[in-house]
Amino acid sequence: MPRAAAPTGTSASRSFASEHAVATGGPMNLRELDSRYFGRHGEAKDVVVGDSADSQLIDARGRRYIDFMMGWCVGNLGWGNTELRAAARSFDGPDYVHPDYLYRPWAQLAEMLAGITPGKLAVSYRTTGGTESVEGALQIAMAYTGRGAFVSIDDAYHGNSIGTMSIGASDHRETFKNLLRNCHRIAPPLDLKALGKLETLLKKRNVAAFIMEPIICNLGALVPETDFMRGARALCSRYGTLFIADEVATGFGRTGKLFACEHFDLDPDVMCISKAITGGYGGLGAVITTPKIAKAVKKDVNLYSTYGWHPLAVAVALANLRYLKRHRTRLLKNTTAMGDYFLGRLGSMAFKGRATARGKGVAIGVEVQSERYATKIGDACRKRGLLVSAEENLLMLFPALNVTGPIAQRGLDIFEECL
Ligand SMILES: Cc1ncc(COP(=O)(O)O)c(C=O)c1O
Repeated sequence: MPRAAAPTGTSASRSFASEHAVATGGPMNLRELDSRYFGRHGEAKDVVVGDSADSQLIDARGRRYIDFMMGWCVGNLGWGNTELRAAARSFDGPDYVHPDYLYRPWAQLAEMLAGITPGKLAVSYRTTGGTESVEGALQIAMAYTGRGAFVSIDDAYHGNSIGTMSIGASDHRETFKNLLRNCHRIAPPLDLKALGKLETLLKKRNVAAFIMEPIICNLGALVPETDFMRGARALCSRYGTLFIADEVATGFGRTGKLFACEHFDLDPDVMCISKAITGGYGGLGAVITTPKIAKAVKKDVNLYSTYGWHPLAVAVALANLRYLKRHRTRLLKNTTAMGDYFLGRLGSMAFKGRATARGKGVAIGVEVQSERYATKIGDACRKRGLLVSAEENLLMLFPALNVTGPIAQRGLDIFEECL
């Protein structure tokens, strides 16, 4: 095992390089290496990331891109926030804490989350990310209700485990034939008619949970009708079904409220969070529920997670929440004002064919005439120095909460040039 025996990093990398050259007949460029060894869905985009700052991504050659994706709702405060970065760099705690032990920053983070999340949500379970949070929420719902069925929104995305794919977009079912069977879907528009369909499903009293993003980032920032949201909450209570709010993407200010539930005065039974909680510095998430539900499932639900709430990630999450608390009014005001600016401009742009711009705060989507057109716009934007997300026939823009007027204007100018 020459690699393991190599005494220094330099000799180890020499050993890797020579083994690689023997195996391949010469050094590979990054794209070749990536496509040979790195598992990914589809092809990497032609951006080699070097650095990031504020609302910009900087490639390995120093080219700056305006970032209207922010890692898909991760960098809500802009990249390189000095307080988050300082918390990561100056971290001086334990390498690791086993969940059997007490650890003060865990209790502090859980207490802070209880203080800012809606309604009676108060008890947090540790996770490493969004999928694990949603998976935990499904387990809690099954254990609490003793039921096995779920209802979600058609074509939604809640993660990539078997459980979360079961409640997600149904096109996975072709490939993964043995996903959970008893998962039903409500198709948008989310209005009173959809509420009627939800009631038909919940009436059977076999549904453990109804799950949705309160503002659906994954469907191009789709905003449900308030009557649907309030009605769905009431129906869940009536038929003994838990309401799970997936705020993995919408959480921590993205929609102009700290949590998207607040737009509807919605008190969910369970909430899932992740992404922006560390601003990108660490993998961390949580499932949060009420003391009543947590107590009832204490014996049956064990959301053990080896790396859940790693001390370093927790230190950054605490710094992030403290920052959000201090700057909340300013950040949310900017989010709402910028969201209005984005929607105003997008609404008056000359797209080819029918296009609908929608969203809340800086969760913004544009539904265009075809997937081909969306991809073409996304690619053209990238070539001109703007990063947006293009999936199916949707273009999605998730700028930072503190995006400035000039950056917003410049980014939208580029976007408009690419239509
Ligand atoms: C709404 C929502 N839920 C869950 C997830 C899964 O999160 P993760 O990728 O951290 O597992 C995502 C990821 O994009 C998401 O947008």
